[in-house]
Amino acid sequence: VPIHLPWIDAINMLKQQRGAVIMAHSYQSPEIFHGVADITGDSLALAQAAADCDADLIVLCGVHFMAESAKILAPDKTVLLPDLEAGCSLASSITAADVRALRARHPGVPVVSYANTSAAVKAESDAICTSANAVQVVESMGAAKVIFLPDQYLGKWVAGQTDVELVLWNGTCEVHDQFTAQQVRHTREQFDTLVVAHPECSPEVLAEADFVGSTSAMGRWLEKVQPARVAMVTECSMADNLRDQFPQVEFIKPCNLCPHMKRITLQNIHACLRDLQHEITIAPEVVTRARAALDRMLAVGR
Ligand code: 13P
Ligand code: SF4
Repeated sequence: VPIHLPWIDAINMLKQQRGAVIMAHSYQSPEIFHGVADITGDSLALAQAAADCDADLIVLCGVHFMAESAKILAPDKTVLLPDLEAGCSLASSITAADVRALRARHPGVPVVSYANTSAAVKAESDAICTSANAVQVVESMGAAKVIFLPDQYLGKWVAGQTDVELVLWNGTCEVHDQFTAQQVRHTREQFDTLVVAHPECSPEVLAEADFVGSTSAMGRWLEKVQPARVAMVTECSMADNLRDQFPQVEFIKPCNLCPHMKRITLQNIHACLRDLQHEITIAPEVVTRARAALDRMLAVGR
């Protein structure tokens, strides 16, 4: 978009001078996703990229837990988040003390935490997963029962695909929790469209979908199915960012904006590179323990 061009040019120049790599989640606005990012993807892809990154400076365009994961996987690099207030309702739904209390209530039961958690919660976990590999990570624990936190909807979706018994927490994503089954049915009837939904949606919404998957799985599904029309029941930028890649597909809203993802702007990315702010720091003992849990996820892969 032309009004963004001066900012995009300025950021790309600064990025080169600083030798920085800009990583952006699929829920970032198109001017960020297409305009300035070197690496884009779902939360798993960004974690993998941070682990493999050559640059000394990473600017993470996403939310706080993603920047923390990057720092844990690349502890010798400087990781900057353009706005430290970019949080997540799932990450803030559970504390490290809550995880310790869950363990005390379920002795010997391993803990798999969704990537959408703080570094402190990751440090209390045996393994991390994202929505792209949650079933695989749960099954890799080799246990009959697993504590799965904090997203109860993702947990229910995973439970439907495995024989492992899951102990769930009551967290939800404030963005995906807003969709209703009625709204999805209405959209399907009104627009005669296929529907894909993110597993952070409620079970009633997921029951209405033709396909359920992580943000990256949605892209792969589009490639395979090539639908004439699709409603993406997820954050709005997802469809905006895929539109360029699939010009023959008509993207139907409904969608909801994530207020946390949207705190990241071209202006604060520019300030971030100019002033080298805001740096993510995590206590070394937390890094070591969270790293072990993240490494277990990376070993499982996608
Ligand atoms: P994924 O990229 O793992 O699909 O994440 C969805 C999400 O809500 C991240 O905040
Ligand atoms: Fe968290 Fe939901 Fe926003 Fe993702 S979309 S960052 S899960 S609040």
